[in-house]
Amino acid sequence: MRETSPGGRVEELRRLIRYHNDRYYRDDAPEISDAEYDALFRELQRIEEAHPDLSDPDSPTMRVGAEPVAAFGTVVRDIPMLSLQNAFSEEDLHEFDARVRRFLDGRGVPADALDRSGYVAEVKIDGLAVELTYDGGRYARGATRGDGVRGEDVTANLRTIPDVPLSAPRDTAEGGAPPPALLTARGEAYMEKRDLAALNRGRERAGEPVFANPRNAAAGSVRQLDPRVTASRRLKLWIYGTGRVEGTGFPSHWDELSWLSGLGLPVNWAGSRRCRNIAEAAAFYRKMGETKESLPYEIDGVVVKVNDTALQRELGEISRSPRWAVAAKFSPDRAETTVEEIVVGVGRTGTITPVAFLSPVVVRGVTVRRATLHNQDLIDAKDIRVGDRVLVQRAGDVIPEVVESLSATDDAPGRGPKFRIPDRCPVCGAPVERVPGEAAHRCTGGECVAKRREALRHFAAKDAMDIEGMGTKIVSALVDQGLATEPADLYRLDRGTLAAMERLGEKSADNLIRAIDRSRRVPLSRFLYALGIPHVGEHLAEVLARHFGSIGALRGAASEEMTKVREVGPEVAGSLRNWFDAPEHARAVDRLLREVTPLPPTTPAGKGSGKTFLFTGTLSMPRTRVAEIVRKEGGTVATGINRKVDFLVAGADAGGKRTKAEELGIPILTEEEFIEMLGGKE
Ligand code: IVH
Repeated sequence: MRETSPGGRVEELRRLIRYHNDRYYRDDAPEISDAEYDALFRELQRIEEAHPDLSDPDSPTMRVGAEPVAAFGTVVRDIPMLSLQNAFSEEDLHEFDARVRRFLDGRGVPADALDRSGYVAEVKIDGLAVELTYDGGRYARGATRGDGVRGEDVTANLRTIPDVPLSAPRDTAEGGAPPPALLTARGEAYMEKRDLAALNRGRERAGEPVFANPRNAAAGSVRQLDPRVTASRRLKLWIYGTGRVEGTGFPSHWDELSWLSGLGLPVNWAGSRRCRNIAEAAAFYRKMGETKESLPYEIDGVVVKVNDTALQRELGEISRSPRWAVAAKFSPDRAETTVEEIVVGVGRTGTITPVAFLSPVVVRGVTVRRATLHNQDLIDAKDIRVGDRVLVQRAGDVIPEVVESLSATDDAPGRGPKFRIPDRCPVCGAPVERVPGEAAHRCTGGECVAKRREALRHFAAKDAMDIEGMGTKIVSALVDQGLATEPADLYRLDRGTLAAMERLGEKSADNLIRAIDRSRRVPLSRFLYALGIPHVGEHLAEVLARHFGSIGALRGAASEEMTKVREVGPEVAGSLRNWFDAPEHARAVDRLLREVTPLPPTTPAGKGSGKTFLFTGTLSMPRTRVAEIVRKEGGTVATGINRKVDFLVAGADAGGKRTKAEELGIPILTEEEFIEMLGGKE
């Protein structure tokens, strides 16, 4: 029941907003759309404005974002990272201009001051807000926005982004500007559309959930406990402002951008405009809305900022956002259509995915005919049924999805029955079960043709065994004709059989045979990834290959042994062990190994390969240097003491960590012993 008294509703809204803040900022897994969130937020703001007695310094309207997760250190900033007020149209932008003028007028600032200042309009990238700190010109710290005041310390992760200069100015040659004593630069870490699409394709093949939009992908990649994962994600960065700058000031925002850019920080000049007045800013907003598809990255609006810094100071801020800036958002990329049918698909691991077939509708220039419904829980929550009018949305290159059923809210008469995922697999007829603890349903049939087809497709894919020409059509035909049921079968196909297949001539058959033969020798990591073991994506396959060095060593390892790999927890170890123990997998791998030779990692394993080091106490070298040595030698640096740490390197005055290491029986090295072990003194 929805609360009706203002007090009750305020409490309810605060609770809901806090909940969704956590899902969005902390878990990178939003449950409602931005528009739905904005509506809740605005409703709360409206009630609070109308009932000042209900205001509360702890209300989400007074804060930005969510509590940082405990796994990262916390960075507390004295100049908070603010949020922006929203506008949704050119008209709203004119209203913003009028508001600014009224406020300045009230402060006795002459009317032409804003005319002289003008505005700066910048594209609003859909990514993750971050702050970089440069101490004496050297990159010292990287943090997320978090709740604005307290962010997460992601120094090591942001360092892996090539756009992040490690010294600013980059070139300190004679005559160059001296580095500022202290600088915090603020901007957006983001992922380009094609990199997100590639990442999602890989995740889908590995049976992992895909990122719904570039923001989640950027956030999920920056907030990784292992910086190597961040490094593998091809993140980029634009800087759009400063927090604290010592020793310099700027007459205008445009000058601030030029200064930042002069230091070597990445400024998005192509996406920024100096505008004489709000009409020019509105024209830029309109133009970007029309042309955003052609940009390599996703933008969700345009940020318009008063250019003159003195005016910015005069305007100040209100609760959580500056009065001198506004985010003009683009209208959502959604359209209305009808669900014609709901069909379930079966994936490689047997996951059953319900898909809505729709009356074709154009969303952002692309015809959408189907959209994912994700799983039974989401269908139930949104109450989507065949025949319903629904809202579909496209976000970037991501699979379209059904946002909501319009018929459900209308409670339209004569709606069809509720949709239920069938009890039996639509392909093989085996029972379908819900995966304990997950929202997914899975086909339990060991012989399911759909599973086989998807497994073979994954096996042959470019990022797995890379068998060129072995695409969906051929794989389907091979499975349908009973010519291949498992990977090893692909290596027993002969030219004659292939050439006789529909649509495949002799030449293609020859090429395919050659491609199959080429894949007989393959890096161990690709081989592991190609097997399609649940949880083993490209990255984990790489890590396992490096740690174990051979398929035999991995297959023979007890799950305790597996958990010694830093990125393998008990759950993944259990899943790996179960997979290798299942007789059908053991047989399939044996058969496959008669055809294929997985090659051990080519780069000779570093001296610290697969080993985890923890440092404590005072060392003669800076921590960044010791971490670099460890990484160069293939090891990992831990942040806390636990059983996965292989060596504790203790300097002078080592305290609690040393005691704990002794308790756990972890070998303790002096700094000299560490250097002797890994080398690295220059
Ligand atoms: S200015 C006080 N400029 O939008 C100024 N923000 O709610 C605050 N964003 O996640 C930010 N592009 O990271 C600004 N050119 C831009 C931006 C931008 C993206 C993000 C920002 C934050 C959100 C602001």
